[in-house]
Amino acid sequence: MSGELINFTRGVPATESFPIAEMSAAAERAVQKYGTTILQYGKSTGFLPLVEWLADWMGVQPNQVLTANGSLSLIEFFGYHFIEPGDTVFVEVPTYDRTITLLRRHHANIVGIPLDADGLDIGALEAALQQQVPKFFYLIPDFQNPAGATYSLEKRQRLVELAEQYGFWLLEDAPYRPLRYRGEAQPSLFELNPNRVLHMLSFSKLIGPGPRVGFVVGDADVIRAVAKIAEDTYIAPSLLSQGIVYEYLNEGHLPAQIEKLKALYAPRLDATLAALDKYLPDAQSTRPDGGFFLSVTLPEGITTEALRPVAREQFALNLASGQAFFPNGGGERFLRLPYCALTPEQLDDGVRRLAEAVAALR
Ligand SMILES: Cc1ncc(COP(=O)(O)O)c(C=O)c1O
Repeated sequence: MSGELINFTRGVPATESFPIAEMSAAAERAVQKYGTTILQYGKSTGFLPLVEWLADWMGVQPNQVLTANGSLSLIEFFGYHFIEPGDTVFVEVPTYDRTITLLRRHHANIVGIPLDADGLDIGALEAALQQQVPKFFYLIPDFQNPAGATYSLEKRQRLVELAEQYGFWLLEDAPYRPLRYRGEAQPSLFELNPNRVLHMLSFSKLIGPGPRVGFVVGDADVIRAVAKIAEDTYIAPSLLSQGIVYEYLNEGHLPAQIEKLKALYAPRLDATLAALDKYLPDAQSTRPDGGFFLSVTLPEGITTEALRPVAREQFALNLASGQAFFPNGGGERFLRLPYCALTPEQLDDGVRRLAEAVAALR
């Protein structure tokens, strides 16, 4: 064996990133100040002071904000709102596997549009639009999960033009967007065209996933309809969590927290990239400037499924299946590497073991 088990499987935040002291103080204050509201049922749009804070942050009106228990539950609600069985939805290929699961649950016809390192293959999108127009296109333009791709400005602009021309919604999922370690941010799709884009963000990767606080901003009519679906599902999201997160945000802790995350995660990304150059120079990989993931295309002849048992049994390395990210097949040589919850030493060791497992299979 090669020492302690290393997990390249789940995209979870590092536990040492959690703002324990600030959140305990926020929790105490929230219950003291808003106890009668946040221990009670409330509106499905969420705790009003948080909704107003988010509206201000995003530059929208409060009736354009819907909070929820994590952004994943929003994707489920959008499924109920937009999809009748058999309706077409576009996704990037590869895409976030849980979204595929939810879309399948709604019996959507999922059409995948290939993703390059600088964003969507626009030619493939134009060809797909000649065939059919989707109800919506679910996409993750910044530091994509699982590929680690980020869209160029040109691709963003063309995408919002096409959404306008053909009349479909863009469901922009942006949990990693604030975590840029270097380089310049491009405008979000929502900033480019707020009339066609529903923009989701989450505090899961900024504060922690435990509070389950995510939100979407966009068209007020869609927000109202989706808020009704949320109400019929759980009456209201966790107002206790929202009260605590609101206190945390309103005390002004978020900018320093984001800087702390960048300082923690940037060296982890760098360690992973350096280890790939050193140990696996012939594997193609994305080279993101932020987020939680990069992805590797394994050398010709090596599949992720064949590699996983060898990596686990001989090298104490857990790898995730690649194919779960591909809704219409493919992804045999795709490997996602989540790097944030491992130290630079573990990342170097993990990529070395990965290279050894690849060599063992060759
Ligand atoms: C692209 C994407 N969307 C949504 C989620 C779920 O986030 P939340 O914790 O806000 O439900 C994740 C979590 O990994 C994700 O990567």
